[in-house]
Amino acid sequence: MTSNAELQQRRIAAIPRGVANSLPNYAARASNSELWDVEGRRFIDFASGIAVLNVGHCHPKVVAAVNAQLSLLTHAAFQITPYANYIEVAEHLNKMAPGPTPKKTMLFSTGAEAVENAVKIARYHTRRAGVIAFSGAFHGRTLATMTLTGKVQPYKAGFGPLLPSVFHVPFPMAYHGVSSEQSLAAIEHLFKADVDPAQVAALIIEPVQGEGGFYIAPPEFLRALRALCDRHGIMLIIDEIQSGFARTGRMFAIEHAGVEPDLMTVAKSIAGGLPLSAVVGKAEIMDAPPPGGLGGTYAGSPLACAAALAVFEVIASENLLQRSQRIGELLQTRLRTLQQRFPVIGEIRGVGAMVAMELVKNGSAEQPDAELTRALVLAAAAQGLVILSCGVYSNVIRFLSPLTISDALLSEGLDKLEAALGEVTAKR
Ligand SMILES: Cc1ncc(COP(=O)(O)O)c(C=O)c1O
Repeated sequence: MTSNAELQQRRIAAIPRGVANSLPNYAARASNSELWDVEGRRFIDFASGIAVLNVGHCHPKVVAAVNAQLSLLTHAAFQITPYANYIEVAEHLNKMAPGPTPKKTMLFSTGAEAVENAVKIARYHTRRAGVIAFSGAFHGRTLATMTLTGKVQPYKAGFGPLLPSVFHVPFPMAYHGVSSEQSLAAIEHLFKADVDPAQVAALIIEPVQGEGGFYIAPPEFLRALRALCDRHGIMLIIDEIQSGFARTGRMFAIEHAGVEPDLMTVAKSIAGGLPLSAVVGKAEIMDAPPPGGLGGTYAGSPLACAAALAVFEVIASENLLQRSQRIGELLQTRLRTLQQRFPVIGEIRGVGAMVAMELVKNGSAEQPDAELTRALVLAAAAQGLVILSCGVYSNVIRFLSPLTISDALLSEGLDKLEAALGEVTAKR
């Protein structure tokens, strides 16, 4: 039997340290919300491969759709000999996207690629260069998306020079004393001090920050951004890569604010584990770049499109929007009970099943406990639970179980979390 230790040694020798691993357990197989490592150890998965598996690992309908596609057509390059399931995915996304304006969709493979292309489309449409993003944002690791990402370590330091004409403003974080008014004032200040709004192509925001720590943009703030963008002819890009596809109890998190994006980026849970991403936007804006200006060899692979169509069907037939709300309630109720026992839990926040807890010292938001957070991830893994940390201060645990998880497994996972919290706090 291959052991975790042996794979770890080979991994260290063969793969650069730049790609970090959260755990030293090597995944061998998985089903819905459970995963087994190469030594046969079972884990409950509250990470979903970083928010990719809203319909669970290897959902039978996704597996069947991909298997059927596998023997028909695996690649043709949409730019060369186009195929029908790409169009079908685009039609679905155009219908699902919020707002009344007619939409068009372009498919890609990764989240970063979708964000890069959204910026390209916004720039071409407006013939402007500037992009406004938020502190704590995560939009990817390519050169342009790394620039948009609002966290220096470990994402940007040493990788410059960065893309010019990108500006960051504070994201509203009530727990850390940043109000929506302050964020809006920072944008107005930016327009006075740094950049003419007439030179700004786009403003990009995650309605719920993902890697940044599951901070939730208040609906009225998102509506104010919509108005501000309209005032200045700036394209509002909503990044739904982590928050999309029923995670927050709506198909897309922006729906909670009733805002229509100009462009929206989606990826991750769109295709149940296969690499697929998209830019969905107002048709007129999407049509700005000329033929050949957008594309990619693998963009919108037929296999990934088959998986996406199955995912859309599962979200509807298994009522995952409602399920997401229910999972969110169950999580928040249990976490609030845990908060009574463990005062290290400073704040619990969430929308639908996009829930997180922030770990702090002395009950103070200003004293993030990154060390305890790291220890908790390892202690949870020792209990057989995969959890993910995040946050500008690396002190947030985010809960991203599949939305197809049963109540029993969710509760078993939370028992493991409680045991792990007991262990790490007892060592203090
Ligand atoms: C909100 C958001 N945007 C963009 C990305 C980048 O996606 P990818 O890692 O697929 O390039 C991520 C990835 O975590 C994300 O959470």
